[in-house]
Amino acid sequence: MNETNSKKITAKANTNIALIKYWGKKDESLFIPTNDSLSLTLDEFYTQTTVQFSSQLKQDKIIFDGKELSSKDNQYESITNFLNLIRKKANCNSKAIVDTKNTVPNSAGFASSASGFAALAAASSKAIGLNLSNTELSKLARRGSGSATRSIFGGFVQWHAGNSDQTSYAENISNNTNNIRIISIINSKSPKKISSRQGMRLSKTSPIFPMWIKVAKKNLQTIKKAIQSDNINLIGAIAEYNALCMHATTVTAQKPFTYFNKSTIDTINYIIHLRNNFNLHCYFTIDAGPNVKLICSKNELELIMDLLTKKFDLNNLVVAHSGSGIKYL
Ligand code: DP6
Repeated sequence: MNETNSKKITAKANTNIALIKYWGKKDESLFIPTNDSLSLTLDEFYTQTTVQFSSQLKQDKIIFDGKELSSKDNQYESITNFLNLIRKKANCNSKAIVDTKNTVPNSAGFASSASGFAALAAASSKAIGLNLSNTELSKLARRGSGSATRSIFGGFVQWHAGNSDQTSYAENISNNTNNIRIISIINSKSPKKISSRQGMRLSKTSPIFPMWIKVAKKNLQTIKKAIQSDNINLIGAIAEYNALCMHATTVTAQKPFTYFNKSTIDTINYIIHLRNNFNLHCYFTIDAGPNVKLICSKNELELIMDLLTKKFDLNNLVVAHSGSGIKYL
């Protein structure tokens, strides 16, 4: 980049929901996870980010959902640190203007960091003049937040844990996504008290953490077969079991904690009730926050939504299909 101002690039990334969770790191600084994970990219929650570098700026200027961040903000720091990686890669010192907008409730278990860092990786690398493949983008996004590794791609995505910067990246493994639906049941939009980063550290002290890694490995093999045969019920059942195993490491940590609140438990019980008493094939998964996502097939969506609206406000129910990978606008 030789001119004073770089090109202005806008990228859009969707969030993703992990069906086999990423929970635990073997290298914190490089974001190398302890296990492979698998997700579905969603078409509902996304981040749109515009980046321009300029040699005339004294420091990065970051506008987050319409509000300029102060350099003392945590978010400012994590975005600037990420931009430093890009600057180093491109051998360029220019600061940047970043304008980022989310349709994801931040820090409430909706993986806003996944779409956030995926969009930032794409927009900033292109703006600075790096022409990266999606695999390289995936490795780069990982350095901002692990789950962002997967949001570069659409459909069902596997993140290969690997053991180095070069071997830890995601790839699309299937677009056999026509029949799956995810309903987000929102009970809280407030930021979580324990970040996933912190939660993963605490969970590693659980005596069942080694067991979690073994279970996740097994679940991954089975869910990949279920995806191939378009068996939504089996996908749901495995994702639910995997999420419960992940959360078991929180309540058994040396300093036990949980992301569940009262509504989380109520929602879980309601989904089990629908399954047992209405013979519906609905399953749940939960990330590092209190909100529950219901997994079902397109065929049963209407019936399930009818029953959910008897208990929850329609405004708190968001139906998502499979979404696409990174897009430049
Ligand atoms: C429970 O990607 O937010 O959503 O890499 O520390 O930024 P960092 O964590 P983050 O963790 C996501 C954890 C999860 C499971 C998942 O998305 O796989």
